[in-house]
This record gives sequence, C-alpha cells and structure tokens, in this order.
Amino acid sequence: MMAITGLTRIFGIIADPVHHVKTPGVFNTYLRKQAVDGVMIPMHVAPGALADVLNGLRMMQNLGGLIVTVPHKSAVVTLCDELTAEAARVGAVNCIRRDPDGRMVGAILDGIGFVEGLRGAGIDPHGLRAYVAGAGGAASAVAFALAGAGVSSLTIGNRTEARAHALCDRIARSYPGLALSTDATRIADQDLVMNATSLGMQNGDAPPLDLRQLHSGQIVAEAIMQPALTALLRAAAAAGCRIHPGLPMLESQIRLMAEHMRVAQ
Ligand SMILES: NC(=O)c1ccc[n+]([C@@H]2O[C@H](COP(=O)([O-])OP(=O)(O)OC[C@H]3O[C@@H](n4cnc5c(N)ncnc54)[C@H](OP(=O)(O)O)[C@@H]3O)[C@@H](O)[C@H]2O)c1
Repeated sequence: MMAITGLTRIFGIIADPVHHVKTPGVFNTYLRKQAVDGVMIPMHVAPGALADVLNGLRMMQNLGGLIVTVPHKSAVVTLCDELTAEAARVGAVNCIRRDPDGRMVGAILDGIGFVEGLRGAGIDPHGLRAYVAGAGGAASAVAFALAGAGVSSLTIGNRTEARAHALCDRIARSYPGLALSTDATRIADQDLVMNATSLGMQNGDAPPLDLRQLHSGQIVAEAIMQPALTALLRAAAAAGCRIHPGLPMLESQIRLMAEHMRVAQ
C-alpha cells in the first residue's frame, strides 16, 4: 500500500458482517499498480444505520466512493441520488461514486463482471442455455448480464419462487424475445449452471441445486469466493463439468469499479 497522507482519497466497502470481504485487498493492489493515491477500507454498517451512514458520508469531502455488498445492495437503491440504467433495471447497486458536490451515483457491476470473467476464461455465454440459482442482488445482476450477452434461454431457480418469477418478469420487459423459466428441476438440460445464492459459504449448507443432474457437458460457475472450492464446484468437478470459481467475477469488476468511482481524479 502507498503511504497515506492528507491527500489520500478514501474508498469504502460497506457490509454486515464485513470481516470476510475480499475487495479491499484486490482493490488496493489495483490502486497501487495504477499509482493512484487512494485507499479502500472496510466499513461495518448494520442495516438500521445505513441511511444515516450514507447521509454522513455525503459530507465527507475526500470520499471517492463506496463498494456495497451483503445485505445492503437493494436498500441503497433508494438512498442514491442517481442510478445507471443497468442498476435501475436490476434494482440493486454495488458501487457508488460520490461526486464532489456530495451526490451519490449508484451502479451495478456484478453481472457484467461475471460475464467478463467468463469471457476471460474463454467461455462465451452467447447461445448457451443458462441456469442461475438465486434471485437476490447478485443473481439479478448476473441474470440481466447473461440476457444481455445473448444466452439462448435463462432459467432462474430460487427458494422463494415469487422472487424468481418477479425477476423473470423484469427481464422479460428488457429482453422480450428471451426464453425464460423458473423450473429448477431441469438442471441436466442446461449448458451453463451458476450459483448466485449464498448457499455454500458455510460448511454443511444445503446444495443450491440438484447435484445429481450435473454432467460432463456443462460449465458450473460460482459467485461465492470463500471457500474458493465450494461443495457445488467439488461435486461438479467430480461429475466431469468444467468449473469456474467466484474470484474472476470480482477481479473483472475491479477496473469497472475504478472507472465508475473515477479513482484517477
Ligand atoms: N464473486 C463476486 O464478485 C460476487 C459478487 C456479488 C455477490 N457474490 C456472492 O453471491 C452470493 C449472493 O449474494 P447476494 O448479494 O445476491 O445476496 P442476497 O441478495 O442476500 O441473495 C441471497 C440469495 O441466496 C438465497 N438463499 C440464502 N439463503 C438460502 C437458503 N438457506 N436456502 C436457499 N436459498 C438461500 C436467497 O434466496 P431467497 O430469495 O429465498 O431468500 C437469495 O436468492 C453471496 O455468497 C455473495 O458473497 C459474489
């Protein structure tokens, strides 16, 4: 890390809990490589304090922006002054730029980061039949980005089915020609299977989808970064699938986050 001086711009990551976050390490390495005089720090913020904290941070003149993660991505939407078109469509924000006048501008970069991470590993989602487990913030962003990347069909499976239906309805409005489903029983029919639930972070979590249907023609991807090899990825590797871990989704977002927060200014 570069020496912190009175000129150093501050970037934060707000989460609850915050101890497990990986972004500061990756982001600070990026800032150092780009010779940017800035630092990212963890900020432990409980949901009930979110609005007060954000309103206070508006007045902090050396704050360049914030990364937003679990459980705040949906709640910050109404607290931002402006949203990118993608954040408005997805209904979630994971990166906020604080403009010099204190305005907070929210973007969602998870989905495009996931797609860029896939492409970086030589996997083009165009034309693939895709399954996304989950309908929360990460799943919504990934689902919209996969639709934008031209998957041939998209199935959303979620514990709370109503959220999966609502997500499909929102995607249908932006991508009216896309084949959409919420049938979580047809995993074997998919080319790309992605876990965007939080199941797999803890030892002993239930699997996020029916592992018995995994086969060697499939790519199985994770959003979870810790552990790097989740029970899902282990089962997929054992079934002969190509596996794609959660870290590239974050790594691909770092440049996008830096651009949105205009770190170089
Ligand atoms: N690699 C990256 O760059 C990256 C980026 C963003 C997020 N992530 C990871 O993605 C995961 C999801 O994050 P998020 O922001 O989308 O969280 P979120 O908005 O809270 O959504 C959580 C999702 O997991 C499901 N879920 C939670 N507990 C469950 C359980 N016991 N049984 C079945 N389903 C359950 C929820 O289903 P319900 O709707 O039924 O509650 C929901 O679909 C986290 O592990 C996060 O760390 C990774």
